[in-house]
Amino acid sequence: MSDTPNIFPGNWDVITPIILKTYEHWFSQNWSPVELPWDELDSKNFDSKEGLAQAYWMSKLALFEKSGIGAFGLAALQAGRYNMEDPAKKFLAAVTYDECRHDEICRRACSRLCPAFPYRFKPKTRLEEKALSNINALYENGKRYWKAFEQAWEKYPLELIFSSFFFAEIGAQLIFREVADRSKLRVYSNAFTNITKDESRHLTGTLGMLERLATTMNDQQKLTITRQMKHGFIYLSPLLFRPVGTFWRLPKDFLQYDEELEHIAADSGLGIPSLQDRAKDWLQAIERYRSKLENMGIALPQIEDIGLQGVQVDVKKGDDIIAAPL
Ligand SMILES: [Fe+2]
Ligand SMILES: [Fe+2]
Repeated sequence: MSDTPNIFPGNWDVITPIILKTYEHWFSQNWSPVELPWDELDSKNFDSKEGLAQAYWMSKLALFEKSGIGAFGLAALQAGRYNMEDPAKKFLAAVTYDECRHDEICRRACSRLCPAFPYRFKPKTRLEEKALSNINALYENGKRYWKAFEQAWEKYPLELIFSSFFFAEIGAQLIFREVADRSKLRVYSNAFTNITKDESRHLTGTLGMLERLATTMNDQQKLTITRQMKHGFIYLSPLLFRPVGTFWRLPKDFLQYDEELEHIAADSGLGIPSLQDRAKDWLQAIERYRSKLENMGIALPQIEDIGLQGVQVDVKKGDDIIAAPL
C-alpha cells in the first residue's frame, strides 16, 4: 500500500454546477480547424516578408498554446490523481484539447506561409534570421517557465494553482477577439472567432473553479492569487503587451524586429492590435473582473506598465514565474 495519489476509484460528483455546464457547452461549440478557408493563405498571395511576418506572430502565439497544452494536460491529470470533482477533470481535459486545436491553427498557418518556420527553417535574409532568433529566444525562455510550473505542484497546494488559471483566460479572450475583428482574411477572422469562443468557455470554467476554491481560502492564500496574476501578466507580456524584463531574457534588438514583423503581419491581413491598443485593452479587460474578484476577497495587483491600480507585488529579476497558460 502507498499513499501515492491515484486516479482510482474516481468519482462522479458534481459539486460546482457551472463547471459541468461549461464542460457541456464544449460539445455544442465544437469546431474543426481543418475546415477553414486555408486556400487564402497561399504563399503566392503574399511577398516573402509578409509570409514570414505572419508566421512569426503565429509562432509567438504557439508558445502560449503549447504551454496551454502542457499545463492543462498536467492539471487534468492532477485533478484525477487528487480526486477533484468529476466535471473539473473533464473540463480541464477539454481545455487541453482546445489548446491543441489552437496550436494546430498556428502550425497550419506557418506551414502554408513560410514552410518549416520556425523549427526547421534556414534563414536566408537578415529579417528571416532575426525573426528566427526572436522565436528561438522566446522558446528558450519558455523552458524556464515550464520547469517552474512543474515544480510548483510540489510547492503549492493544488487549489492555489487551479485558482489562478482564470487570469490568462481574461487576456486570451481579449486578444483573440481583437485579432478576429481586425483580420482582413477570412481564415484568420473565422479561426480567431472560434478561438475566442473557446477562451470565453475557459474563462467561465476557471472562474467557476476559483469561486468555489476561494470560499475556503485564507487571506494569505488570496494574496498568493494576487501575486500569480502579476506573474501571469509578466508571462503573457510578449504576446499581450511587450516582454517584461523581470522574466524574459531576450536579444537586445528583439523589440526592434518584433515591432517591424508585427507591422508587416498586420498590414498584410493578420489583425494584430498595436502596442498602445493592447495595453489599453488589457487594462479594460482586467478592470471588468475587478468587482467580481474583490467580492471574493481577492485584490488585483498593481501593474504600472498598463496603469492597473492594486496591491503592490514585488517580482524580482530571476524569480520563478508561476503563471497560468492561455
Ligand atoms: Fe489557447
Ligand atoms: Fe484558454
